[in-house]
Amino acid sequence: MEKVNKVFIATSLDGYIADLDGKIDFLDTFPEINQIDSGYHSFLEKIDAILMGRKTFETVCGFGIDWPYKKPVFVISNTLSEIPEKYKGKVELANGTLPEIMALLQRKGFGRLYIDGGKTIQSFLQADFIDELVVTVVPILLGKGIPLFGPLESSLTFECKKTTLFLEKIVQNHFVRVRTQH
Ligand SMILES: NC(=O)c1ccc[n+]([C@@H]2O[C@H](COP(=O)([O-])OP(=O)(O)OC[C@H]3O[C@@H](n4cnc5c(N)ncnc54)[C@H](OP(=O)(O)O)[C@@H]3O)[C@@H](O)[C@H]2O)c1
Repeated sequence: MEKVNKVFIATSLDGYIADLDGKIDFLDTFPEINQIDSGYHSFLEKIDAILMGRKTFETVCGFGIDWPYKKPVFVISNTLSEIPEKYKGKVELANGTLPEIMALLQRKGFGRLYIDGGKTIQSFLQADFIDELVVTVVPILLGKGIPLFGPLESSLTFECKKTTLFLEKIVQNHFVRVRTQH
């Protein structure tokens, strides 16, 4: 089984994934991006399951649309005791430490994980559990908001394997973690 943890996320130029209220309106700065293929669907085809933070789950629930994911979704939370009735069968709670959660998902046959949500990605990065990061940068300075990255105990090096410029406005970088053998 391939075991890989991947991120596919959009940030502002100053590295925020949402404003301070959790709104992601900045993603529509250049709405024409929604008309083109920015690689999201082919990314989704290559993952087995999605592991998202509780706040990202709540954001998706608030979209007021049909459940958008075809792949199994797991929500990481220390405060949710159960998944709301409406989402049962689509979403499962994932409790425990990150290694415990990854082991649980692997036992279910899910080795290639899409990790979503700022705090969640940060906790995976703190444990050096992220292997690939696809970051799409919308060139707007928000000045404040929810950051993609946070403090780390030690630095993590990535190689940029691919860069794509969309509409001469939006850049997408595909980073792969480099782990040197000692
Ligand atoms: N720009 C984009 O592409 C993009 C993508 C995704 C999300 N977003 C936005 O990002 C915002 C959410 O990000 P966020 O950083 O606020 O939160 P988040 O990562 O979605 O959720 C944080 C919550 O997840 C749980 N969690 C995370 N790591 C955990 C760990 N290691 N162990 C246990 N629980 C853990 C905790 O839930 P409990 O508090 O319940 O314990 C924590 O409060 C939303 O506004 C969403 O719209 C933007």
